[in-house]
Amino acid sequence: MKNTFGTVLTVTIFGESHGGGVGAVIDGLTPGIKVDEALIRHQLSLRRPAGATATARREQDAFVIQSGVFEGKATGTPLCLFISNEDTRSRDYTPAVARPGHADYTAQCKYHGYQDYRGGGHFSGRLTAALVAVGAVLIGALREKGIVIGSHLQRCAGISDAPLDEAAYNDCTVLREQLCALNEKSFPVLDEEAGARMMDAIAVAKGEGDSVGGVIECAVVGLPAGLGEPWFDSLESRLAHILFSVPAVKGVEFGDGFAMGELRGSQANDAFRMRQGEIVTATNHNGGINGGISNGMPLRFRCALKPTPSIAKEQQTVDFINQQEQDFVVHGRHDPCVAHRARVVIDSVCAIALADALLERYGTDALAADGQK
Ligand SMILES: Cc1cc2nc3c(=O)[nH]c(=O)nc-3n(C[C@H](O)[C@H](O)[C@H](O)COP(=O)(O)O)c2cc1C
Repeated sequence: MKNTFGTVLTVTIFGESHGGGVGAVIDGLTPGIKVDEALIRHQLSLRRPAGATATARREQDAFVIQSGVFEGKATGTPLCLFISNEDTRSRDYTPAVARPGHADYTAQCKYHGYQDYRGGGHFSGRLTAALVAVGAVLIGALREKGIVIGSHLQRCAGISDAPLDEAAYNDCTVLREQLCALNEKSFPVLDEEAGARMMDAIAVAKGEGDSVGGVIECAVVGLPAGLGEPWFDSLESRLAHILFSVPAVKGVEFGDGFAMGELRGSQANDAFRMRQGEIVTATNHNGGINGGISNGMPLRFRCALKPTPSIAKEQQTVDFINQQEQDFVVHGRHDPCVAHRARVVIDSVCAIALADALLERYGTDALAADGQK
């Protein structure tokens, strides 16, 4: 589907960067789950640009829930949420010049000049605000079931954060605390000193008219074993599908990922053990998934975010209407790094994919609060 993700629980997004606004429709929600507007506001605040590490565009992200909620609870019918655009500056954009690394040229190839080119139009990172808003509804519902999602900026501009706890033998006490702490931080690192150095490096790149990328590492604790399907709807496939939909994500790996290509089986295998009557694994190189199905250990994956394509340095491109090469400088207000802002987007799309997999396996009421009729 073009703008819709999901099987049982579907999310459709719409909007443009400089149009009236952006939004999402989420269908197939468990009736009766709490729709916590304070949590939606909090999650949106984690994506909102702030300080020298982000774009100067300042959107308030005031959202309106148009349907699907009654007295603070999901009705189970389509929930439509809309966020208006208030701080646009469209004069910075031209219809014919392709920003290298951005979607201006490919949008032209697909939509033949009818696309809204302002600020990247429908391809803009602005649409991720809608994903974060609806993702917050699912993040809240999953937390009620003991499933906690969280991410950190594992690497940025060559600087590494402290590692997430490995939760060996499925002891998630420390990992769960780390994820909960990260979910409150606007710059998501475990090591504040490393975070300060990352912020400095982002500011230096910006000062040089450039940008930097980063790696977001996500973990999920409390996920039951048995989620996902073999082959094409494997949990990895579904997560990768939605993670690669996030603009600027260029790599996804699960568990030890590409590093596993360098290991021996004796190093990569996770030994099965018994702990307090539960089957667990001693290590978690496979990131909580075997054969496309969750094994009850923490889910772990990483996403590589490329450096922001819109940079202030002079670049070479073409005017694709007049078919002429030209040197040009991108105007407009841009993030010198998108990785730290994308963290909550990654968490949100992860929640969408996991909620869909849960509802597919256990039915629409699987996210209902305990004791709910
Ligand atoms: C939260 C977020 C903010 C973004 N901000 C910008 C930006 O300010 N300027 C820009 O050129 N790209 C930005 N991007 C990245 C572009 O949207 C993305 O690179 C572009 O749509 C091309 O898609 P691709 O990189 O996946 O090929 C942002 C992405 C995200 C997730």
